[in-house]
Amino acid sequence: MRHDAIAVIDFGGQYAHLIATKIRRRGVLAEIRQPEDPIEAFRPYKGIIISGSPSLSSHGEDSAYTKGIYDLDVPILGFCFGHQEIAKRYGGGVVHGGREWGKADLHVVGEHPLFGGLSPVEQVWMSHYDSVVSVGPGFRELGHSVTGDGSDHRFAAIGSDALRRYGFQFHPEVDDTVHGDDMIANFVLEICGCTPSWSMDAFLDEEVEKVRARVGGESVFLLASGGVDSTVAAVLLGRALGSGRVHVLHIDNGLMRKDESAQVLRMFEELGLSEHLHFRDASDGFLRALDGVVEPEAKRRRIGDTFIQVFQEEAERLGIAHHLLGQGTIYPDTIETGGTRRADTIKTHHNRVPIIEEMIARGQVVEPLAELYKVEVRELGERLGIPASMLGRHPFPGPGLGVRALCSDGIPDEHGFGALAPAAAALASSFGLESLPLPIRSVGVKADLRAYEHPVLLSGDVPWQRLMLAVSAITAKVPGVNRCVWNLASGHPASARPLAATVTRPRLDLLREADHIVMEALRTWGLYDQVWQCPTVLLPLSLGERSGETVVLRPIRSQRAMTATPVEFPAAMRSRLARDILALPGVSGVLLDVTSKPPGTIEWE
Ligand code: XMP
Repeated sequence: MRHDAIAVIDFGGQYAHLIATKIRRRGVLAEIRQPEDPIEAFRPYKGIIISGSPSLSSHGEDSAYTKGIYDLDVPILGFCFGHQEIAKRYGGGVVHGGREWGKADLHVVGEHPLFGGLSPVEQVWMSHYDSVVSVGPGFRELGHSVTGDGSDHRFAAIGSDALRRYGFQFHPEVDDTVHGDDMIANFVLEICGCTPSWSMDAFLDEEVEKVRARVGGESVFLLASGGVDSTVAAVLLGRALGSGRVHVLHIDNGLMRKDESAQVLRMFEELGLSEHLHFRDASDGFLRALDGVVEPEAKRRRIGDTFIQVFQEEAERLGIAHHLLGQGTIYPDTIETGGTRRADTIKTHHNRVPIIEEMIARGQVVEPLAELYKVEVRELGERLGIPASMLGRHPFPGPGLGVRALCSDGIPDEHGFGALAPAAAALASSFGLESLPLPIRSVGVKADLRAYEHPVLLSGDVPWQRLMLAVSAITAKVPGVNRCVWNLASGHPASARPLAATVTRPRLDLLREADHIVMEALRTWGLYDQVWQCPTVLLPLSLGERSGETVVLRPIRSQRAMTATPVEFPAAMRSRLARDILALPGVSGVLLDVTSKPPGTIEWE
């Protein structure tokens, strides 16, 4: 390994990625390892961190992972589940109980390099059911915690300097542990002795070298959607190989935003990759593949299969099929499909479908960003001179508007409405809102499980905070509801009628216009950069007396799309959006999705 590096063992949830990002921010390379990786995989590292786990318990059961790590002569630090594992391994006791949840004060006992530069009392964040109640020989208590109710919890931090084994009951990787970054940095720099040599400049130089060595005298071709990852990958490949050896193929699948393909082609020209820039309008083929298909996963499969087919045809036609395939795969894409324990893994990433996996096995794929997180890709893009307006573009799913034009056979889906409607209405009215359960379903995530459930439409001019409380109450208490949408039009629709609809060009054109209005409004109101993503979704539902479909806006704030919160739009922006979108022919309603993730996912299917 060229750099000192830390292994972070991923026991699920999103903890491991947060920990790795924080270590990298301090200039030290951190990589995710799976619990069952062979011991050889852990040898190159100067330290190991065992992450927390949303589902595993240290109490009673013996968790399966490569225990050989404890025989390695490197420091190990565990968080939460990892903390309990370390205590247990070295003769301490763990019991079921002593639960803490939320903020707590960590009282540091004595002095220790892990807490160097910090105060004797530090705010930390706790989330555990099991607790360490004793430590084995050689270990000492480095801190205890006091929660809001005044109760004192022993062994919030433990350690043995002779063994170089440490544990924190709290989560230093989350922002509510105010100086968690410093604690992690103290472990990495002081205890493990890592030299911070990993920077984006160093990465760029090394990656350019690696790409040259890997590609040799061959050429690379790359499918470019116009998204941040594939664009940065293309420019990096151009830097390493020269534009004469990089073929960029952009396919218009008909599921793109308004005028997007033209913009993408212009951008690649401006980025100096025009020498072998290829374009294919394949929208007819994609629409044929989607003809009559209603079920969301079937749509995704049809879109994915058509992509591969068009891509193979074009590669043959252009005579570039024998070139290496370049992909803008980023680090989480490789982990989410490769990892076995990730609770949120639901869809196979399109960069890892079987045909691509076969090419990878044959050594035909180059993925220059496969070690980077999204923030790092953006940073690298800046170093490569890609304009900020391009790097700041919102993420857009591979299947594009195909998963944002919901489909229906026209039969009302009122599964469970009997009990659901009165329960939702009672809760809504207690917040001064009217409600209407919608006879369709959208995907959501509850307790790490994905399921299709009903949205509830809410009407009423209430303050945002009250609306948020109403949404939390309804989604938590009414079974079968995972989402709430706020009516932006005047009045309250008495009914919602499903329309038979599949993915067709006229519907996509309508959705493109609505989406365009929303994107323009985000820019006009200065919100574009504050919003992580804002899907505009077309529902085959006629609201109230009007005829036509319903448009849903889904603006969210997020860090990495694993969780999200809805964004408040100013009242003037809401009424302008409602007016402009309702003016589109064939629209009967405009709704704002006001659900966080969980329980609602970002996309509707
Ligand atoms: P969800 O809906 O799961 O979305 O909360 C999380 C992030 O993933 C994106 N997404 C997709 N991206 N193909 C993609 O390339 C897909 O099938 C897909 N589905 C969701 C979504 O836009 C969000 O950024």
